Amino acid sequence: MIYLDNAATSWPKPESVYTAADRAARECAGNPGRSGHGLSMAAGRILRETRMLTARFFNAPDAERLVFTLNATDALNLAIHGLLAPGGHVITSSLEHNSVARPLEALRRLGVRVTKLPADPVNGLDPAQVCAAISADTRLVAVTHVANTTGTVNPIAEIGAICRERSVLLLVDAAQSAGTRPVDIQGMNIDLLAFPGHKGLLGPQGTGGLYIGINAAPRPMREGGTGSLSHMLEQPDVLPDRYESGTPNVPGLAGLAAGIRYISDLTPRAILEHEAKLANRLIDGLAGIPGIRLYGPPACPGRSGVVSFTIHGVDTVEASMIMDQGFGIAVRYGLHCAPDAHRTLGTLETGGTIRVSAGCMNTETDIELCLEAAANIASMH
Ligand code: ALA
Repeated sequence: MIYLDNAATSWPKPESVYTAADRAARECAGNPGRSGHGLSMAAGRILRETRMLTARFFNAPDAERLVFTLNATDALNLAIHGLLAPGGHVITSSLEHNSVARPLEALRRLGVRVTKLPADPVNGLDPAQVCAAISADTRLVAVTHVANTTGTVNPIAEIGAICRERSVLLLVDAAQSAGTRPVDIQGMNIDLLAFPGHKGLLGPQGTGGLYIGINAAPRPMREGGTGSLSHMLEQPDVLPDRYESGTPNVPGLAGLAAGIRYISDLTPRAILEHEAKLANRLIDGLAGIPGIRLYGPPACPGRSGVVSFTIHGVDTVEASMIMDQGFGIAVRYGLHCAPDAHRTLGTLETGGTIRVSAGCMNTETDIELCLEAAANIASMH
């Protein structure tokens, strides 16, 4: 099978990820921070090491402020629900995934003012638009780094500079950028970074995290046992405990550490170049096939690996089924949980797009075979 659905979750993982998760489950299966015996201490060490490694990877100033979550959606919910309250204002874009758009919609119905800026599918958000939308009640700017439907890259560093200058918190959804392009929390002035462990970082599913900068203090979404300050009924103030009640996913986090080590060795910059080369070849090839329409940024240096297209006269579900069953190629079809993005593209009412997302494990041969399959499907209709 040729797997080109890395924007949904990366596959396969490096061998070291499987080994680390398996070893942690067998040899470090205590409950971290709860007991003093060897298995508990070993689990605690995994948590600590993964936290430090992840914080260093994103250039976060304080590892203790990086909290682990189930995935990026969980992290975004913690940030959005934890920071906003009726009467406050938030700025977001028209290219967001539902993991940003749905919590914001729920809060909008409770009285939070939401400004959804129209983002250009090719160039992304214009920082000047963000600047103009900020007002006295603006609490948060919540935007994606790379749009999951089109691969559009937002100018996060420029937006970050504006937010810092205007004292507004910046929350970045790094679901499609963590591990696939450099993300620098300090360099980009990011206050809150939500990331999945199981996509570009190549870790197991059920892993992710939120970096919570010193200026942000979201309300916890979950309260309970932390193994610390157990005599108190109030949730502890100290991080990461404040946001990490309950038994964590130790085997998953051991795998995540192995994934981060693997991509650190390759370097995110080299991964970016590899994915851009694959995406650019795909875009150039698709552009030459009659009946195919491309969406999002054209082929360019630094192009994200996410490419969306439609085939004239072919339903996106049918096309991806033929890709899978006829050619053994796994892609995603439809709305990609991002209806606003499809509204922006004009594909909301027409079945969305076919999305091919190359990852660091894909090869040029994978792309050539995908192009052959797309040409074949287009010629049949
Ligand atoms: N958010 C994931 C995607 O874009 C699941 O496919």
